[in-house]
This record gives sequence, structure tokens and C-alpha cells, in this order.
Amino acid sequence: MILSTRQFHFSYPVWVEFGCGISRRVHEKAASLHRRRALVVSDAGVARAGLLEPIMASLEGAGLQATLFTGVESDPCGEICDRVAALAGEHAGDSFFVAVGGGSVMDTVKAAVVVAGHGGSALDYQRGGKKIEKSCPPYIAIPTTAGTGAEVSPYAVISDPSRKKKVVLEGPQLWPRFALLDPELTLGLPPRITAETGMDALTNVVEAYTSTGTDPFAQALALKGAAMIGRWLRKAVAQPHNLEARSNMLVASMFGGLCFDYAGLGAVHACSHPLGAHFGLSHGLATAVMLPAVMEFNLMACPELYRDLAAALGADVRGMDLMQAASAAPLAVRRLMEDIGLPRTLRELDIPEETLSLLAREAMQERANLCTNPRVPDEGQMLDIFYRAYYGPGGRK
Ligand SMILES: [Fe+2]
Repeated sequence: MILSTRQFHFSYPVWVEFGCGISRRVHEKAASLHRRRALVVSDAGVARAGLLEPIMASLEGAGLQATLFTGVESDPCGEICDRVAALAGEHAGDSFFVAVGGGSVMDTVKAAVVVAGHGGSALDYQRGGKKIEKSCPPYIAIPTTAGTGAEVSPYAVISDPSRKKKVVLEGPQLWPRFALLDPELTLGLPPRITAETGMDALTNVVEAYTSTGTDPFAQALALKGAAMIGRWLRKAVAQPHNLEARSNMLVASMFGGLCFDYAGLGAVHACSHPLGAHFGLSHGLATAVMLPAVMEFNLMACPELYRDLAAALGADVRGMDLMQAASAAPLAVRRLMEDIGLPRTLRELDIPEETLSLLAREAMQERANLCTNPRVPDEGQMLDIFYRAYYGPGGRK
């Protein structure tokens, strides 16, 4: 990045607050919204973990009429977002939402507030569709995983099952009014979910750091986020009740959401959407398995940046030449994936090899993500990236 040639801005409309136990004081933030109906949206796993009672008690104790919906499923489709929007009924002007969960819950609520404010159906408002221009009910985001950073971004990714596609909704109305980061809510999250969501956070910071749209603000957050994930993700997986590890992962994940909002993402996210849409891979797992392959493809476009990332991830790059040091970054990612027990290839995930061309073709259509990737692949190169992700380092034999 040549700073003298760039312009950048930052201003941020979300009040972000971090602290153990902070979610039990959600009513304090709700009071400033001046609305009486709280629509708390979550999923069955969060309900089973007992995380919702204190939040409901906080809202009801403050005299608010609180309604609970726990029917969000992973990989939310437009229809579930419409159902959540319908909770507001004709009282949208007196309602606010509280999203308690991971990326799927956040995305559902974001799309639901758009529908509650505009009418119609969530899929109508995907990029290129109807404009999101009216005011929408506000919402409070309370993440229960450390991964997407969706609690601080104005984007929602939902699926359109009829077209086997993931679509994006985007607009300032999708920002929460408050994001409450309470690491206690992530204690006890199973190791596999911790690992997958943590790799999404890592992908967000890696792509934002190396994006052609990056800036010093985003890079500072991204590099710090990478270092925190490199240091703490293993511990969060190994010790699900390690509050310090959970706290660091939650803040790193928020850094990821913030920095990709400013800087944009890259080819990993372009590849992850068709993998999710066709094979139902979680976003975290899809990004994890593509990340080292894309990094290896990108290396020579910005080796200095990958050298920074390698060092942030704990690799000792002293004495290495530039390309060696840059190559240490994807190696560090593969090592991390191995340590936290994630499959490292598409082959291990039973993705049929004959579908790689389709996946590559569809990834090439994800222009919004590809346009900020530091090296723009053509379709043949994109297919090579998928083969590398399929077979591991070395790619197609
Ligand atoms: Fe992501």
C-alpha cells in the first residue's frame, strides 16, 4: 500500500462494549432505544446452553415486553428471515430486536430488520435488488461465538435455496445499535465450533490485511487480530472454559468484522460461498479449508504483508529471505488447523473432485470479494486454487 496515493476514512456508528457479564445488563442499552417490545432471536443450541434466561430476565425486569424466538437454523434462508421479521407485526415502530448467537443469528436478524422496515421478503433486498432505503427497527447484537465479526458489520449473508446461492444484503440499516461482547457467553462452546469459527475470524483478518482496499486503520486491527488468534485459538479449543482465551478470541473476531468492513475481503470468501451453498459447509470450515491455498496463490503479489502475518502468527522469520518468510504464513495456518483438529483438504471433507470446476466457476462470479484480492485469478488459476485446497500443498498431481 502506497499511503500517499490513498484516501481513507473511519467513523463508526455502533456502540461496542466488552466485559464479562455485560449481556445481563442488556436492559441498560435497551432503555436508550425508547421502544417497549423486545424480540429476542436465537437458536436451539444457544437456548440449550441456558444463555437466554439472564437476557430475558434483564429485559423483563426493566418492564419491557420480551418475546423469544429460538428457531434460527444455520445457513439461514430468506424464509426464516421473513418469519423473524413477522414477529414485529404492525408494531415495528415500537419494537427492537436482540440477536443472541453466532453469524447465522446475526444475519437472520439483519435481514429481518430490513423486511420489518420495508415489507416484502428478505431475498428482495439482496445486492442489485430492491433498495434498502427506509429506517428499520434497531437491534442489539450479542455474539455467542468468536468468528464472523457480524456483530459489527453492515452485511448479511443468507441463502437462496432455490438457486443454491448465497446472497448478500448490505446497508447502514444493518448495523446494530449496540454490540455487547460478553466472553462468558462463549465459555464451553464445543471445540469443533470454536475451531471453525476461529478460522473464520483468522480469514477475515488475513484477507483484510492483504486486500487491495486496505488502509492503516484496518491493517492495525487485522495484524493485532491475527496475533491474538495465533496466540489464543489453540487454548480456546483445548480449554473451552479458559476465559482469557475466550476474551481474546471475542475481541479478535470483532477486529476482523471491523477491518473487513473498511478494507474488503478476498478470494477465500469468494470460494467459501459456493462451498456453503452446494455442500452445506459451515462458513468457518469453508473459509478454513480454502485459506492456505489462496494465501499460497497470493504470496508473490504482496510477500511483505504475508511476512508480517507469518510473524504475527508466531513463525520465526528471522534470517529468512522475503519469499521464505512470506511462505511461512500459509504454513503457520496449516499447522494451526492441524493443532485444532480441523480437516485440511476438500478431499477430507468428501467434496467430489468432479465438482471443482463448478465451484471455481461460481467463485469467479463473486466479484465483490474478488475485486479486492491482491492477485486476481483467471478461471484456470481459480481451478488450481481449488485443486490445491483439494489435495493440499502442491495441488493437482
Ligand atoms: Fe468470514
